[in-house]
Amino acid sequence: MSNLNGKVAIVTGGGGVLGGNISKSLVEAGVRVIILDVRQENIDKRIDELKSLGEISGFICNVLDIDSLNGVKDKIVEKWGKIDMLINAAGGNLPGATLAEDQDVFDMKVSDLNRVIDLNMYGSVYPCLVFGKVMADQKYGSIVNVSSMATYSAITRVPGYSMAKTAINIFTQWMAMEMALKFSDKIRVNAIAPGFFIGDQNRGVLINPDGSYTNRSIKVLGRTPMKRFGDISELNGIVKFLCSDEAGFITGAVIPVDGGFSSFSGV
Ligand SMILES: NC(=O)c1ccc[n+]([C@@H]2O[C@H](COP(=O)([O-])OP(=O)(O)OC[C@H]3O[C@@H](n4cnc5c(N)ncnc54)[C@H](O)[C@@H]3O)[C@@H](O)[C@H]2O)c1
Repeated sequence: MSNLNGKVAIVTGGGGVLGGNISKSLVEAGVRVIILDVRQENIDKRIDELKSLGEISGFICNVLDIDSLNGVKDKIVEKWGKIDMLINAAGGNLPGATLAEDQDVFDMKVSDLNRVIDLNMYGSVYPCLVFGKVMADQKYGSIVNVSSMATYSAITRVPGYSMAKTAINIFTQWMAMEMALKFSDKIRVNAIAPGFFIGDQNRGVLINPDGSYTNRSIKVLGRTPMKRFGDISELNGIVKFLCSDEAGFITGAVIPVDGGFSSFSGV
C-alpha cells in the first residue's frame, strides 16, 4: 500500500474499542492522528497508550454538536493545515435502545429511539459536513464511515440502530457522489460494515457474565461461515486501503468485514 506517512487523520470515537484500534494502526503507519471523543478519560487513555508509537493528539468533542465540531475544525486546520482522512467511528448501540428478549417493538421508548438514531446517523453526518468542507476546499481527502451488519437484513432487538446505520449507507453513497461531481475525484467517501466484534457497547448481549456465549452469540456464529467473531485488528487493513492511493477509483462503497455473515443465508 502507498505511503500514509505524514497524512493527517481525524478519528471520531477514537477513544473507543474500534476507533482506538484503527487509530493505533494509523499511528503505526506514520499517520498524524487526532482523536475526537466525548469522554475525556477515553482520550487520555488512548493518548497514553499510543504516544510512544507516533503522533497522536485528541480533542474533547461531541459529534452531535455542530459548534463543538466547528471549534475543533478551526484548531485542527490552524495547527495541521489540512485533513487527509476522516474516520467516523463514534457511535454504537445504546442500552435503552436495545429491546430486551421479552419486549416487542411496541415497548420501544421513543426518546431512546431518537437518541440512538441521532448518534448513529447525525453523529457521522455532521463530521462529514464540517470536515468534508475542508476536504472540498482543499480538493482531496478520504472519508470512511462505520456502518453495520444491521443494514443488510433485520437483526432482532436493535431497530433504531439498524435504521440509523442504514441511513449511513445511503449517506455515504450520496456524499461520494456529491464530492466527486461537484468538487474533486480526489475526494472519496466509503464505509465499512463490521460484522460482529466484541466491543464495550455489545459485550453484554454477546458474552454472559461467566464468559460463555449468549444465545445471541450462538445464533450469530451459526450465520457466520468463519464461525468466529472478528478480531478488532481485522478492520485496520481495509481502513488504510480505503484511504490509500490504491483505492483511488473506489468511492460510495460499503464494504462488509464480517467473516461472511452478510453473504450467507444460514442454510
Ligand atoms: N463492536 C462491534 O461489533 C461493531 C460492529 C459494527 C459496527 N460497530 C460500530 O463501530 C463504531 C465503534 O464501535 P465500538 O465498538 O468501538 O464502540 P465503543 O463504545 O467502544 O466506542 C465508541 C466511542 O465513541 C465515543 N462517543 C460516543 N458518543 C459520542 C459523541 N456524541 N461524540 C463523540 N464521541 C462519542 C465514546 O465515548 C467511545 O469512546 C460504532 O459506530 C459502532 O456502531 C461496532
